[in-house]
Amino acid sequence: MSYEQIEISLIEEVSRRKHNIIRSPKQGGSACRDSYRYLAELGISIIDDMQPIQYTGNMKQLVHRWAPYVQGFSSEFVQSMIEKYRKHYKNLVILDPFSGCGTVPVQAKLNGFESYGVEINPLMHFINQVKLNSWSIDPNRFLQEYQRLNYSILADYPTFLKTEKQFDSDVLDSLCRIKGAIESHYACCEDKKIYDLLRVAFCSILIDSSNLKRSPCLGYSKKNISALTPYKLFDVKIKEIIEDLRILQSEYPAQINTRSQVVQANSMHHDYPLQFNLAITSPPYMNGMDYIMNYKIEMAWLGFAENQKTLSKLKNDMVVCDNVSKQLIAEHKNLYSNKWIEDIKESIARRIKERGSYRRPDMPDIVHKYFDDMYQVFTKVVPALKQNGRFILVIGDSLIADTYIPTDLILAKIGQDLGMSIESVVKARNRRSGQIRSYKLRETIITLIKE
Ligand SMILES: C[S@@+](CC[C@H](N)C(=O)[O-])C[C@H]1O[C@@H](n2cnc3c(N)ncnc32)[C@H](O)[C@@H]1O
Repeated sequence: MSYEQIEISLIEEVSRRKHNIIRSPKQGGSACRDSYRYLAELGISIIDDMQPIQYTGNMKQLVHRWAPYVQGFSSEFVQSMIEKYRKHYKNLVILDPFSGCGTVPVQAKLNGFESYGVEINPLMHFINQVKLNSWSIDPNRFLQEYQRLNYSILADYPTFLKTEKQFDSDVLDSLCRIKGAIESHYACCEDKKIYDLLRVAFCSILIDSSNLKRSPCLGYSKKNISALTPYKLFDVKIKEIIEDLRILQSEYPAQINTRSQVVQANSMHHDYPLQFNLAITSPPYMNGMDYIMNYKIEMAWLGFAENQKTLSKLKNDMVVCDNVSKQLIAEHKNLYSNKWIEDIKESIARRIKERGSYRRPDMPDIVHKYFDDMYQVFTKVVPALKQNGRFILVIGDSLIADTYIPTDLILAKIGQDLGMSIESVVKARNRRSGQIRSYKLRETIITLIKE
């Protein structure tokens, strides 16, 4: 194909996509309307209770603010669940099978309740651990160690990423000096807890020091940064952590030794060593985030990924997103199905055929794998719940190839199939479809109970 022919076919593709969007039967539609059939079959209705459920608020909260995250839920939401259910259960033990950067275990610990988290991503697991296990570090000692850092040694930066495009050269030099200072400090003082806390602080400044922004996906963005930016950001983060350590030690002394465990594991296959009264979680959304793409910079800089292969392998092990290898989907054997999933797959396949092309022609199978993955997680969580235990999930729905997917209601149905009852489905937030902006989606809190 000549260059002109490629250009023409690309223009045709873009205009075909635009045409498909403008002509979509879902223009102006809503999840509310498209959910009737499913709600009628389940015999339930959705309660509206709009609330601040997104992670952004956590960046001002004690401990939560140590590391930035976009896809989590708010500590206020987790607190509201703890407040609601602490009266119901004698000894509250809380599980999060998708622990992310630790909103649930940290909030449980602040309340003095035992918790157990599972997180597959080694970076997130590390952040979880540091947020939970650093509370007894002496803030004055931490300050002294920070002030002793020597920035004359340069550490390496990750070479398998486009690091030189992601960071201006003078900023890169500053980051390599901060990293070098942390590494050489550890080599001489060998205090692992202080080292890990310094690494979390370092990890939390990387995106703000880069030419990138997470909004929520990682993309290039023009910013006003200089060689001094990383030092300033690092200093602010260290001071926040020190302030939080002081608060923890003066206001939360009784909670410091609360049992909080987070394991790095795949929640599709993990057998729980404990029984829980409450599982609170926000799983990956159906066609949502590529978590690996979004956190690859921090993973690479902190040594949790040494090449693209490690990143791809991890992505393939996670609950599926629409950016996985075609081979993974082709080789997947289905485990769970129901009439809704089959109808949805059939509709997506038909619409893709009518459209003539689609980014992922294997989208029906990606959708099916998502529910298979979640089914496996449920088969592990449900038996780990005590009698009358609750499984609370925060989840968004999706619109894919003009087909509405009530992820929340399908997950509720999976829960029912495994013996749980649907206690409530609450709409917490309105969202917009990424493809058809006029289509209204929702974010829901599903509460299942093991009666
Ligand atoms: C929506 S985030 C959870 C955020 C969390 N609620 C918080 O506030 O920090 C979903 C998390 O699930 C993790 N994840 C995806 N697949 C997983 C799997 N199979 N096992 C365990 N964790 C997984 C991702 O790495 C991601 O951190």
